[in-house]
Amino acid sequence: MFSTPRDLDNAGFSTQVVHAGESKNKPYGALTTPIVQTSTYTFEDSASIVDHMRRKEQNLPLLRGEYGRYGNPTQEAVEHKMAALEGGEGAILFASGMAAVTNALLTCLSAGDHLILTDDCYRRTRQFATEFLNRLDIRCTLVPLDDEGALEAAITPRTRAILSETPTNPYLRVVDLDRLGALGRAHGLLTIVDSTFGTPYNVRPLEHDIDLVIHSATKYLGGHNDLLAGVAVGRADLLARMRETNHMVGAVADPHAAYLLLRGLKTLSLRMERHNANGQRIAEFLEGHPGVRRVWYPGLASHPDHDLACRLMRGCGGVVSFELEADLAATARCIDALQLPYIGPSLGGVESIVEQPALMSHYSLNEDERAAIGIRGELVRYAAGVEDADDLIADLAQALDRAARGDAEAVREEAGC
Ligand SMILES: Cc1ncc(COP(=O)(O)O)c(C=O)c1O
Repeated sequence: MFSTPRDLDNAGFSTQVVHAGESKNKPYGALTTPIVQTSTYTFEDSASIVDHMRRKEQNLPLLRGEYGRYGNPTQEAVEHKMAALEGGEGAILFASGMAAVTNALLTCLSAGDHLILTDDCYRRTRQFATEFLNRLDIRCTLVPLDDEGALEAAITPRTRAILSETPTNPYLRVVDLDRLGALGRAHGLLTIVDSTFGTPYNVRPLEHDIDLVIHSATKYLGGHNDLLAGVAVGRADLLARMRETNHMVGAVADPHAAYLLLRGLKTLSLRMERHNANGQRIAEFLEGHPGVRRVWYPGLASHPDHDLACRLMRGCGGVVSFELEADLAATARCIDALQLPYIGPSLGGVESIVEQPALMSHYSLNEDERAAIGIRGELVRYAAGVEDADDLIADLAQALDRAARGDAEAVREEAGC
């Protein structure tokens, strides 16, 4: 609805995050894109209504708004920027990452269809695919993400789509996007990749023949732990169907959240450089610490997808998962001893956040259920923010030492010393 954004196709990524999607001439001569905080739009007269409706009918670019659920200039600026950053024909902004995931699946699947979902994915996505869609007579098969044979074997005549994440949560597994894209093409399946942990700074799935990229923009894209939003980027025909779904479902981002996201995106490359560097340094520190049993970070040679990450990704982000040489309670004590990160769910913001999945995201599961999906009590997910790596590492070192001292004291007490 603002004048046309500039063509920045040949510009570098850092120039794009600042300028793409926004025209140079904004209302009132403002430098920043305004928050157009309105639920509806009014027409001067009946002729302008008819003109607007004709443009809609003929799929011509719209010159104005109509109603908040159908679009908003602040949201559109984010959509144009995200389309440029991912290299897609268009983008849709949603109220949350889950709104983007559920919209994509509800739009593309019908009763009788079959979906393939790779394992180690976001818990709510798995729940929606395996439980909710089941109620609509849409079946889902979970397949290990690195087992190409199993992926192919899971395809049936009713399979319509494959949904995967990269890197995954919490084990940071990296999907071979070229293989996934080729498999989708060969079998006529829609390929969807949730690239929340990847970000367009580190990986661009559409360049690997993936049909649709989804993000929880709540994480790295927003980057400041202050908004909820989701984005889908891809081909115009697919997005037109998803937009139509959202016109009914109404999971639209608020203009203020859209503004915060637009503002957050402008520093995406600066923030990602630091997240990547912090993640790598922390992973290397943890791998060399005697109190840590195992570290999962694709930037480490010990990670099963290190070679893939080197081929597909510019950096591996700020999330590092690791298991302590300890039990659930001692792991919790170690987390409690950390001074810098906040304890909570989520990731990708400037503030570091740490969680113990057994006590947070997977709390409702019992030990056996957790074990079945590979989540142990002593697993920690550390989402490094943009603080100084030296400070984050010194903090981790003191917490690990305190946990080790606490364990030694507990052993002495038990032995009656
Ligand atoms: C990989 C991934 N996808 C989707 C979501 C859902 O995003 P939101 O919380 O913005 O709905 C999350 C949330 O943690 C996530 O980690």
